Amino acid sequence: MSLETTIGFTDIAASEDHFQLATYKKMPIAAERGDGVWIYTSDGDRYLDLYGGHAVAGTGHCHPHVVKALRDQSEKLLFYSNLVYSETRARAAQKLVSLAPNELTKAFFCNSGTEANENAMRVARMFTGRENVVSFSGGFHGRTADAISATFLGRYREIGRPNVPGHLEAEFGNIESVREVADQTVAAIILEPIQSMAGVKTAAPQFFKDLRTLCDERGIVLIYDEVQTGIGRTGDWFFAGSSAGDGVVPDVVTLAKALGSGVPVGACLVSEAIASKIKENDLGTTFGGGMLAMACVSATLEAIEMDKMLANVRLVETHLRERLKEIEQVVDVHGRGFLLGLEFADKAAPIHKALLERKIITGTSSDARVLRLLPPLCLGTDEVDLFVDALQDVFRSA
Ligand SMILES: Cc1ncc(COP(=O)(O)O)c(C=O)c1O
Repeated sequence: MSLETTIGFTDIAASEDHFQLATYKKMPIAAERGDGVWIYTSDGDRYLDLYGGHAVAGTGHCHPHVVKALRDQSEKLLFYSNLVYSETRARAAQKLVSLAPNELTKAFFCNSGTEANENAMRVARMFTGRENVVSFSGGFHGRTADAISATFLGRYREIGRPNVPGHLEAEFGNIESVREVADQTVAAIILEPIQSMAGVKTAAPQFFKDLRTLCDERGIVLIYDEVQTGIGRTGDWFFAGSSAGDGVVPDVVTLAKALGSGVPVGACLVSEAIASKIKENDLGTTFGGGMLAMACVSATLEAIEMDKMLANVRLVETHLRERLKEIEQVVDVHGRGFLLGLEFADKAAPIHKALLERKIITGTSSDARVLRLLPPLCLGTDEVDLFVDALQDVFRSA
């Protein structure tokens, strides 16, 4: 099979299925071009993207400022490793740290969310001299060995066998369950502050305050996996330090997804106390901090600021929540900002399919009744109206 000439959806799908492992359940469309909240397919159709390429397209698809930064950087230097200094990397690190809560003073760049979490747990073990890690039922942290071992969701730990030893499970939102397992052998507590894949589950602000107190009392490193919640998705730059978490700042925040607007990049932000203990060669990765990714990090953060996207997220979330009240089949709306879970009385998968037929991309979750929305931060109220009208139409036609 050859892709030398322009081909339509059927041939694209046949080719992908022929030459790649069947590891993903795909939607029956081929994305060709993106612009803001819209995706254009190989067949010339336009889809409203409320899934953001799995929370990656925070600035929207092909934001002109990010595209320009990528183009400019690609003409200067594609890559050089961390063995040399780089103005592009210096600017990205400075910008990212300056937007983070004051307590997080240094960045380590890597390439993905799972890698950020691996490094965060490693740093915690180095810092404390302990080995065990507590994480939560329903949390997802990635698919590499340590991260998947911390993922007490569905079959993931089974997929990742043999698991890294010393991973302990607690119940999200229940501080007593954490107290029971988080003893003097525990190096870190890692959590998604909003559990996305589990169905956009939240915890009370007091839970985060209690976690912070417990970690301080027992000398445990607190890690927020902000791979989804970070970089503006909740309407704040980070969940760390925000009112949703009672202002609590963890010792480490991990980031990926929206950080590079689609160019792969991950990061750990760490406190000064932890940073002071990290020595040469303790962490490393060839591609982390590469110039293309770093140019995109700076441009992503600048684009969010320039277009006032955080304020937009808050405004449009309010409009969406208001409009969803019109639909009796939506029994609850979980989450914050543009990380939302719409809970239905019945299964969400048929609704996901019916919306796709109406050219709207949404996401499912591991909770069969929850449909996930992870749209670009530039989504507007007009597009929200399109979505809600389509959802009404889905139920009218059912
Ligand atoms: C909360 C969270 N952590 C970690 C990861 C893993 O990120 P990556 O797929 O970039 O390794 C994901 C991916 O979906 C995620 O949602």
